[in-house]
Amino acid sequence: MTLRPVALAAALIAASIPLAAPALAQDAIDRKVDALLKQMTLQEKVGQLHQLSGAEATGPEAAKRASQNTEIRAGNVGSMLNIKGAKDTREAQALALQSRLKIPLLFGLDVIHGYKTVFPVPIGEAASWDLEAIEQSAQVAAREAAAAGIHWTFAPMVDIGRDPRWGRVMEGAGEDTYLGSKIAAARVRGFQGPKLGATDRVMATAKHFAAYGAAVAGRDYNAVDMSLQQLYEVYLPPFKASVDAGVATFMNSFNTLNGVPATGSAFLQRDILKGAWKYKGFVVSDWASVKEMVLHGYAKDLPDAAVKAINAGSDMDMEGEAYIAHLAQAVKDGRVAQKHVDDAVRRILRKKFEMGLFDDPYRFSDAQREQAVLADPRHRAIARDVARKSLVLLKNDKLNGNAILPLAKNAKSIAVIGPLADSRRDLEGGWVVSDVRGEVVSILDGIRNHAQGAQISHAAACAPGCATAEGFDAAVAAAGKADVIVLAVGETWDMSGEAKSRTDIGLPGQQTELFRRLKATGKPVVAVLFAGRPMIFNEIADNADAILYAWFPGSEGGNAVADVLFGDYNPSAKLPATFPRNLGQIPISYAQYNTGRPVTSEKDIVYRSAYIDSPNTPRYAFGHGKSYTEFGYSGVQLDRTILRPGQTATLSFELQNKGKVAGTEIAQLYIRDTVASVVRPVKELKGFTKVHLQPGERRRVTFTIDRDTLSFFNGDLKWGAEPGEFKLMVGSASDDIRLETTLHLQ
Ligand code: GLC
Repeated sequence: MTLRPVALAAALIAASIPLAAPALAQDAIDRKVDALLKQMTLQEKVGQLHQLSGAEATGPEAAKRASQNTEIRAGNVGSMLNIKGAKDTREAQALALQSRLKIPLLFGLDVIHGYKTVFPVPIGEAASWDLEAIEQSAQVAAREAAAAGIHWTFAPMVDIGRDPRWGRVMEGAGEDTYLGSKIAAARVRGFQGPKLGATDRVMATAKHFAAYGAAVAGRDYNAVDMSLQQLYEVYLPPFKASVDAGVATFMNSFNTLNGVPATGSAFLQRDILKGAWKYKGFVVSDWASVKEMVLHGYAKDLPDAAVKAINAGSDMDMEGEAYIAHLAQAVKDGRVAQKHVDDAVRRILRKKFEMGLFDDPYRFSDAQREQAVLADPRHRAIARDVARKSLVLLKNDKLNGNAILPLAKNAKSIAVIGPLADSRRDLEGGWVVSDVRGEVVSILDGIRNHAQGAQISHAAACAPGCATAEGFDAAVAAAGKADVIVLAVGETWDMSGEAKSRTDIGLPGQQTELFRRLKATGKPVVAVLFAGRPMIFNEIADNADAILYAWFPGSEGGNAVADVLFGDYNPSAKLPATFPRNLGQIPISYAQYNTGRPVTSEKDIVYRSAYIDSPNTPRYAFGHGKSYTEFGYSGVQLDRTILRPGQTATLSFELQNKGKVAGTEIAQLYIRDTVASVVRPVKELKGFTKVHLQPGERRRVTFTIDRDTLSFFNGDLKWGAEPGEFKLMVGSASDDIRLETTLHLQ
């Protein structure tokens, strides 16, 4: 029986045997927390705020692990990260239960896009614009991680990223606040499920709070400076969406925001998160970010850093060794109020109760369930479905009247060329933490699995990264004998992610030269590009016959790419981030302001907000992505042209599949507030919908617009809509608007 992924996910829920924590009402939990708190010494309270990364139990780290075990037995550790597997987590938990109050540990891990089954990197998943698929992906990741003893993932990363030089754009959902907020909530739901405590779900973390993606010059860990209006309008909403989705924890960020390290920012953690947003979960620091406040020049020493962080609302100290060493004394000296420590401990203990760990500290560390869940083959089918939905068809030229893609399965001969053609590790991308990962299907594997009768040749041409060209001649020779060339090139897995900023976001090494040599054979070239970020690849963009942007598509990447190349799946993905033509355009986003000197035509740039050496337009726009069919948009209607208080408006239009194959279109709704008390972007995404249509099928599609749709943070940081004219735009991409209409707000 083959289950469609949606049904499959439902079946997973039904089939898995998650144990639900006994449903304790919140006030019952609060009573238990308070009762426990009363028994705790100051030292034991500080112990709960201390998180360590598990050193290896054998080898060079054995002594360090032994000392960590001593700390755990003494009740000086509240949480461990990087200990995984039912056996190891059970052993570590047993040590915690030797402490005086037997408070169980929380086990955290960076399960960012899969545990055993690796899904596309998050920015790739975001290209699916498929909230259901994204939620399923997080659900499978949670199911596998929870089976491996993990209680808590440090995901989703919800940082908006508009600078592709920053390597961590790989981990997020791209440049857009609306899309990023929807995806943040979907990932929280997928990881956590409807209520904490099921043993096939984990606690999630909204990170990195806040505005980490706006690091100056795209250089990781660099300072962030921005207006509060930008912070509220662009960077905070995905975090608020995570709170509204019930996210269990937050992680603060390494960067300073307007001169104050986020870890030491009471504005972010107390005024906004725990104050205005009334957040009841807890905040974990990023790795040693408490200690790093000394290096920032914000704390004079470690004791001072500990004081500043806890007073600012950073509840747990990840690997900073600051709280465990100095917090008790700071309370005794009166530099830290006892209530701040008690509040942090309460927040953490509450989660341990909600996860059912006091009832059964070993409930997630079940070796039998681990073996069964990690062996479940159904996860790969979901991974393949999510991967197919993440692949963006950027270009698909015609040759002799026919589009290059999809390839015929009985194409006489296909040359699969390039350093990433038969790579497996690269397809997993950067954030993989489990050493029990499943086999990866390479591009070459996938093409061989799909082709029926075609003769498949392969030449790597160079090693991943393509530093030298010694294999080019053999590759060109192989290509010359084929009907079509599939070229697999791009970044290697370790060129994006944390501490992986690049000043040149082009194709690494000699890959462009390789493309040039292959193109010179005169054979059609289908370029499949891999990266954890938007790259700049103008020569391929201009001269390849077709381009598929595959990001890093995960364990089933080769099959997913082949599904699209051979037409078993009609590509539907759209870019979640703008692709610049050159570095000089960065930071670049579709949601730009009009300025007083807008460029109205590429010819008229004299004394305009323009460059003298480059168009303003990107190489590929936010929302761009082609299909094997064509979609027509027509008949836009508004059920009212004036929106009065309390009313909603319905915009509708007809979408038609004008081609010969079924396909899915992601129709996008943008608005423009033409006049406001602070200038508004020329476009803001405010809705999208995925519509699957058979050839010739027409469907009326609707978007609902209410006052909230038209609202923004004004100069006083007040959220609201201002009366006036709004342009409403519907299209297939931010630079492909098909229909427009106007709505007046009263
Ligand atoms: C890292 C990352 C953070 C991660 C944490 C634990 O430095 O910034 O995203 O969750 O440390 O690995």
